[in-house]
Amino acid sequence: MNLILMGLPGAGKGTQAERIVSKYEIPHISTGDMFRAAIKGETELGVKAKSFMDAGELVPDEVTIGIVRERLSMDDCQKGFLLDGFPRTVAQAEALEELLDSMGRKLDYVLNIDVPEQLLMDRLTGRRVSPSSGRTYHVIFNPPKVEGKCDIDGSDLIQRDDDKPETVKKRLEVNQKQAKPLFDFYSEKGYLRNINGDQDIDKVFADIDGLLKGLR
Ligand code: AP5
Ligand code: ZN
Repeated sequence: MNLILMGLPGAGKGTQAERIVSKYEIPHISTGDMFRAAIKGETELGVKAKSFMDAGELVPDEVTIGIVRERLSMDDCQKGFLLDGFPRTVAQAEALEELLDSMGRKLDYVLNIDVPEQLLMDRLTGRRVSPSSGRTYHVIFNPPKVEGKCDIDGSDLIQRDDDKPETVKKRLEVNQKQAKPLFDFYSEKGYLRNINGDQDIDKVFADIDGLLKGLR
């Protein structure tokens, strides 16, 4: 199963990815998570990515394409993959197509989680994450059992650096600009499936799952 999850910041890509990979047992490849791990580990990649992420800008295509190429060549991706937040530009989509062609692989679906723009600011500023377990929460829409603590490992929940209102505004602007050309790219190729992301988390997953069951 070779999938892409697309959607504006806060659409629910990471939230749905958790559920998809747990049910379908494919690796979750989130370029955002990879960059955050690199920043935490103070690697060369982290140094390159940090200034762009803090400003709410996209990391340059050549850097992003490079890490995805490396990741997709790993053994665990042979059984399939779920790309979350990549591609985000047409140049990235073209590079991915070339890469998959060279590997003799084909996409199944590009799932576009569609959410009205006015909801995204609240989703992002209320988001809390556990750096150790990777689980995502929301103070109102998806609260943990114990306030401020992760359900999985009890770790303290934190706010992502780029979830401050000023950075969120910039991220939304930057990503909106790229969304339409990317949407058209995959729509023309017949891979695109729209998912209504303005429903309960479980209902969004039920819609995605309904589509994916057909692939098995
Ligand atoms: P990335 O980490 O991918 O951030 P993003 O695209 O901005 O998306 P988010 O992770 O913010 O949102 P999400 O859709 O995963 O929503 P979530 O499920 O958490 O990228 C970060 C940065 O890295 C980028 O800005 C860029 O700099 C760089 N980068 C990454 N990929 C790149 C690329 N390909 N090219 C260049 N640069 C790249 O949900 C959000 C909140 O809403 C949570 O609190 C959640 O609990 C809640 N929620 C989720 N679903 C629902 C629902 N149905 N109802 C109510 N609340 C919900
Ligand atoms: Zn995410």
